Amino acid sequence: MNKRTTSASLLALKQSAHKAVWLTAYDAISTQLAEAAGVDVILVGDSLGMVCLGYPSTVAVTLEQMIHHTQAVVRARSRAWVVCDLPFGTYQHSPEQAFENSVKVIQSTGCDAVKLEGGAIMVETVRFLSDRGIAVVGHLGLLPQSINQTGRYRQHGINPQEAEQLLTDAQALAEAGAAAIVLECIPALLANRITQAIDIPTVGIGAGDGCDAQVLVWHDLLGLSEKNPSFAPTYLPLRQSITDAIGQWAADVRQSRVRK
Ligand code: KIV
Repeated sequence: MNKRTTSASLLALKQSAHKAVWLTAYDAISTQLAEAAGVDVILVGDSLGMVCLGYPSTVAVTLEQMIHHTQAVVRARSRAWVVCDLPFGTYQHSPEQAFENSVKVIQSTGCDAVKLEGGAIMVETVRFLSDRGIAVVGHLGLLPQSINQTGRYRQHGINPQEAEQLLTDAQALAEAGAAAIVLECIPALLANRITQAIDIPTVGIGAGDGCDAQVLVWHDLLGLSEKNPSFAPTYLPLRQSITDAIGQWAADVRQSRVRK
């Protein structure tokens, strides 16, 4: 039987220069398939809101929705480390708010870690959680929960000032006790620099191939999304295959044909 992934085994992978594979999942079947394919970490991302719940952004996702889906993922996992996104508004107010909601998520789902978005502003919170025994994953670069403030999804760290700030933020989050940091939509060279500058795993999405791990959204990888972000590859055009299969079923029903 394969061993359970832990924060310690992810750290050991970084130290041995082996890449870790992260994938989002939101329910039991997607978790079973991801595990069967050897995925190390399942992220119940708040992308849930966009790919499963039909919201235009992640901002509307609630703690209760994250808990509901994370419970399904944890019921189905046998080996993967499960990380649950803390949704918008459930941790930014204070370290105490973040602690209370993290405990709620961890105790009611059995997940292993929580993830939150933000750099310098989140350092005190990451330290507060980590000092109290919570595994926290940071998230830098493109921060989808800030879309109402930033106005558009774009690459970050493209000018020297932004790049230096991201490097400083990553070092501060690592020093505060983060277990890993997601780097979303930043230049590959900057992601490499950050990866070399910190002792904890970096997890890239749209950040080149130099990070310690990569993460993708389930629906993008499998071609289920209507439109992928420019940096997200599709490995299987499932959207078309599923539409075709349903169309065939509908035609069979209408022509009174039953397949066995
Ligand atoms: O919500 C999510 O799926 C994420 C990934 C894009 C990293 O945060």
